[in-house]
Amino acid sequence: MTERHHGVKPFARIAGTGKAVPETVLTNADLEKIVDTSDEWITTRTGIKERRIVQRGEKTSDYCIKAARIALDEAGVKPEDLDFIIIGTISPDMRFPATAIFVQEALRATNAVAFDVSATCSGFLYTLNLGESMIALGRAKTGLCIGAEFLTPITDWADRGTCVLFGDGAGAAVLTKAEDDRGILSTYIGSGGDASHLLYCVGHGTAGFINTGKEDPSERVIHMKGNELFRFAVRAMEKSGLEALKLAGLTMADVDWVIPHQANMRIIKALGERLECPMEKIIVTIHKYGNNSSASIPLALDDARREGLIKPGQNVLAVAFGGGFTWGGSVFRF
Ligand code: ACO
Repeated sequence: MTERHHGVKPFARIAGTGKAVPETVLTNADLEKIVDTSDEWITTRTGIKERRIVQRGEKTSDYCIKAARIALDEAGVKPEDLDFIIIGTISPDMRFPATAIFVQEALRATNAVAFDVSATCSGFLYTLNLGESMIALGRAKTGLCIGAEFLTPITDWADRGTCVLFGDGAGAAVLTKAEDDRGILSTYIGSGGDASHLLYCVGHGTAGFINTGKEDPSERVIHMKGNELFRFAVRAMEKSGLEALKLAGLTMADVDWVIPHQANMRIIKALGERLECPMEKIIVTIHKYGNNSSASIPLALDDARREGLIKPGQNVLAVAFGGGFTWGGSVFRF
C-alpha cells in the first residue's frame, strides 16, 4: 500500500517528537544471572548492551502520554487541536478499549479520534501512513502518531533466545499540515501472513485459552524463530527502503540518515551493505534500548533529533519489518 507524492510537495510534516523510556536498566551482566548467556554472546550476536524495562503497575499508556506531551510541547500544539491519536502497539494496556483512548482521555484531546494498530515492529510506520493519509485527504489537520511497547512483561524469561532481545518504551510524533517542501515525502507499508508462525504471542486472543479452555502458560509470551526471521528482515527492509525512496522520487544519494527498526545490529549492518549506505549515516540505538518493536523508530528519531544529528532540510529514510510479517518505509524531510 502506498502514498505517492511524485517526489514533490508533502501533505504532512513532523512538527515535534518525544520519547519515554523506563528508568530501570537491565544490562547483559544482569541477564547472565537469569539465563545461560554472556555479555559476549549478546553483544556479538545482537549489538545489545542494555535495555530499559518497566516495573509492575506501569502501563503502556503511561509512556505514550509522557512521550506525547513532549512532542506536543515541541510542536506547540494543544491537545484539543488533535484530530487523531494513533498508536502502533502489540502490547496494549487492555484488550479493549484501545490504548489510544486512555491517552486521549489523559491529554483531554476531546476532538480526536483515537485508535490502535497492531503491526508489530512496523507499527509506527503504519501510524505514519494512516495519519499522513488523513491529512492528505483533508480529513484531519493535526494528529499524534505513537509507537509504544511493553515487551518485557510478555517475554519468556526462561528462553535465552528471546529474553536478551527485548526492551520497553514509547516514542511519539506530532503530524500537521506541511507548509513547504519539508515533511513526509513517502510512506510505504506491506504485510504477508505466510510466516506468522515465526513470531507470535497468543496473549488473550481467541486462538488461546478463552476458546479452547486449555491452560497453557506459553500463550502469555512471545515465541520467535530468530534465525529464520533474520533473512526475511534484511530483504524486507531493503525492499521497503527502495520503495519509499522511489515514491519520494529520491535515491540513496539524497538520504542523510537511515533509521532502521532496531532488531539486531547484524541485520542493521547487512541492510546498510545492501542499501550501500555507510554505517555513519545509520542511526543506531539498539545498544541502549534493545528491540522495542514499534517504539524503536520513534525513539531513535527523537534521540537523533535531540542529539543534533538530524538537521533542518535533511532527508531521513525509516524502514521497518516485524512479525506477521509486516514491513514499511518512509522518507521525511525536516
Ligand atoms: N546466549 C547464549 N547462547 C544463545 C542465546 C543466548 N542468549 N540464544 C541462543 N543461543 C544459542 C542457541 O541455543 C544456539 O546454540 P546451539 O548452536 O548449541 O543450538 C546458538 O546460540 C545459535 O542460535 P541461533 O538462534 O542460530 O542464533 P542467531 O545467530 O540466529 O542469533 C538472534 C539469534 C539474535 C535471535 C537472531 O536470530 C536475530 O536477531 N534474529 C532476528 C530477530 C528479529 O528481528 N525479530 C523480529 C523483530 S521482534 C518483534 O517483531 C517483536
